[in-house]
Amino acid sequence: MRSFIWLGTLGALYLFFIFTKPVKAPAPIRVEKTIEVVSASALPEGVVVKPLEAVVETSPVDIEKGKAIYLSTCIKCHNKDPNVKGPIGPQMVDAPLELMQIKVTTGRYPDVLPEGFVPKRKTKQMTKFPNLAKDVPSIHAYVQSLKK
Ligand code: HEC
Repeated sequence: MRSFIWLGTLGALYLFFIFTKPVKAPAPIRVEKTIEVVSASALPEGVVVKPLEAVVETSPVDIEKGKAIYLSTCIKCHNKDPNVKGPIGPQMVDAPLELMQIKVTTGRYPDVLPEGFVPKRKTKQMTKFPNLAKDVPSIHAYVQSLKK
């Protein structure tokens, strides 16, 4: 009888040990990939891209700075007067800030266009200026200050 109690106790302890032993979770596998975003529809399935405005750090709006950039960089193709079309680039007074942000940093129009916005040209001739990302609000403010 005594040995039964012993066996029972040992068995209970054994079971207790098996069931309470913490199971070590496998270490998470981290996959890092750099993807050049050309167009959202060209991304592999399941890859989510943060909206651009979430990653772009902008400087405070400075119309003078925007003017300097517009007159040194943009009028190579656009008109000095952003209400009229230039030698290569179209007028841009009705381009919303978000659109200009994407156009300047990627050279492309976004896949999903702002409501009511129609691209002036279907060409893909604009060069990208990723280094100007933080200055787009200033350029946009300057362009808007000239809107007729
Ligand atoms: C190499 C010539 C070139 C330069 C430089 C250039 N653009 Fe453009 N831009 C274009 C062309 C061409 C288009 C028409 C679409 C296309 O072909 O990409 C365009 C379109 C745009 C549009 C969209 C207009 C619309 O309503 O459809 C915006 C906004 C714009 N450019 C802003 C700028 C700004 C701001 C700069 C200066 C930082 C600039 N671009 C410099 C050629 C240029």
